[in-house]
Amino acid sequence: MDYTVYPPYKDDPRPPFSETQKRILELKRERGALILAHNYVDPQIQDVADFVGDSLGLSRAAKSAKAELIAFAGVDFMAETAKILNPDARVVLPDASAGCSLEELCPAAKLAAAKKKYPDAVVVSYINCGVGVKELSDIICTSGNALDIVRQIPSGREIIFCPDMNLGSWVEEESGRKLILLDGFCREHVSYDADELRAAKEAFGGAPLICHPECPKPVRDVCDCVCSTEKMISYCRQAPSDKFIIATVAEMIHRLRKELPDKIFIAAPAAGAPARHCRDMLKNTPEKLLDCLENLSPEIDLPPETMDRARRPIERMLQMSK
Ligand code: 13P
Repeated sequence: MDYTVYPPYKDDPRPPFSETQKRILELKRERGALILAHNYVDPQIQDVADFVGDSLGLSRAAKSAKAELIAFAGVDFMAETAKILNPDARVVLPDASAGCSLEELCPAAKLAAAKKKYPDAVVVSYINCGVGVKELSDIICTSGNALDIVRQIPSGREIIFCPDMNLGSWVEEESGRKLILLDGFCREHVSYDADELRAAKEAFGGAPLICHPECPKPVRDVCDCVCSTEKMISYCRQAPSDKFIIATVAEMIHRLRKELPDKIFIAAPAAGAPARHCRDMLKNTPEKLLDCLENLSPEIDLPPETMDRARRPIERMLQMSK
């Protein structure tokens, strides 16, 4: 296997900004816009964003944003969440077709049927879902707070957890709670394989292996740390090792390198390839980001009543998160 090894960032400076990046920064200033970007988007976009983070950090940043225009580089439901939390702002996104298998695998009707079957259950939905699922939920969670949120629900209550069955099963293991899991998954994270990861660990002298909780259990079991993308940064910061193998979307490594410029990162192989990328996140190109800032399109446009219903469980999450 040809592993992708990223040397310490301090020894490998980034090239100067491209013309497109410079134009994005100019237009951002002219329009007074705020650029929010998920840890999984193209490094060229991360480098011009005002805030780069995980889903929880991005939700908080969107809610507290003072700008009248937010350009959100991520996937559609992340931009929707920004709009729901900050309805007075205009929210534009580089590519409205950027979605996710989790969203596709959990239409609102599927959750509605589960609620009918378990009418007394509390519904905890992972933020990686469509607005229709959010409207039917009691509490939203992210990978960074799912465990904490489930632990706060009284022990006698049944809990429906959707749409990620792997994140849900990790929460079950860590909390000791039985959840009613709906069967969705992230197509990128289920492509990792425990044997491939074991071999990578061996190839790099036992370097710590870190994965996202959307990975299946056999993969999680060979990892030293299972956590959200933001927690990957704090884990690698405090761990004594100088190199880490990262089993999540490889663009995350750009953020890790910038935050921890002395450390070496290795992309975990997946399905025989040296790294895994998210095809939907990569629909966010610098050119499309420039275009959406220029033309204010595509723009998130949701009915006010829909946003009001979806906002309640998201706000509940923010109240319940430390
Ligand atoms: P976090 O943003 O919570 O780290 O999750 C990343 C993600 O969306 C995985 O698909």
